[in-house]
Amino acid sequence: MDYLKIFSPATVANVSCGFDSMGFAVDAVGDEMSFTKTSSKGVKITNITGANLTYDIDKNAASAVVQKMLNDAKADFGVALTIHKGFKPGSGLGSSAASAAGAAFGANKLLGNRYNNLELTKFAMYGEEVACGSQIADNVAAAIYGGFILVRSYNPLEIVKLPVPKELRVVAIHPQVEIKTKDARDVLPANVPLKNAITQWANVGGLVSGLFTDDYQLISNSLVDLVAEPARKSFIPFFDDVKTNAVKAGALGAGISGSGPTIFALCKGDKSAENVYKSIQETYAKTAIDFTIFTSKVNAEGIKILE
Ligand code: HSE
Repeated sequence: MDYLKIFSPATVANVSCGFDSMGFAVDAVGDEMSFTKTSSKGVKITNITGANLTYDIDKNAASAVVQKMLNDAKADFGVALTIHKGFKPGSGLGSSAASAAGAAFGANKLLGNRYNNLELTKFAMYGEEVACGSQIADNVAAAIYGGFILVRSYNPLEIVKLPVPKELRVVAIHPQVEIKTKDARDVLPANVPLKNAITQWANVGGLVSGLFTDDYQLISNSLVDLVAEPARKSFIPFFDDVKTNAVKAGALGAGISGSGPTIFALCKGDKSAENVYKSIQETYAKTAIDFTIFTSKVNAEGIKILE
């Protein structure tokens, strides 16, 4: 293979109870990237559209990952890369993760599928470090594996792919305010009271079980976050209103997507998602803050080859 074009999905990390350990990929929103083998070694970015990102190959998450993989594989060729961002960086929908995961996937295809998904996740985590300073796996693993994932362990890295109930839909609103992941991590509590920790890990168990058994009520009951959400929600204007109205309109639950500011709501079925979409849209339309909003299925297969 000398050329490929891919779709790398946006992702919702944490999913309320699973801070840094759960995530899922969305179907409707993501980046498009192309990879062309070149005879001269090294990586170059020939075009970036849809966002103002660096062309510096050591600082761009995508090119940094491709470079690392080519070095690791001692490749005798180089890669020319194009990136079209389908959603904004800093949204909380795994923008750098989509680039980093897409880069790992694309370069691996040019290398003849040398690496497995776990190895691709490790390469993509390096891209996350380049982009935001931490080797977080939840977004990149969701993009690579598709569907829901659980980061069962960071050291050694262990990713568990979880099933996606057929009727599950996500509605996500991105208020146009900027939150840096680093700032959103700086406000996290250093310690969690045991009582809250018990609730949190019980909910992760509940969510995982609900995904396996298509138990939407159990999924709903489990979408509770006592760790990150209380510390972060003040960064997101009208968070409580959106959450309350989404649940009133029938959402199974709502929370902060990754480090925000996007707010996600999970719903059962298209009709419910439509109602929740309207309710969230109306809530934000009353404010002076610009926003974008979408509804999506959960993307069960992860990164897709387009050409
Ligand atoms: N799990 C991460 C966080 C996702 O919430 O900080 C953002 O990279």
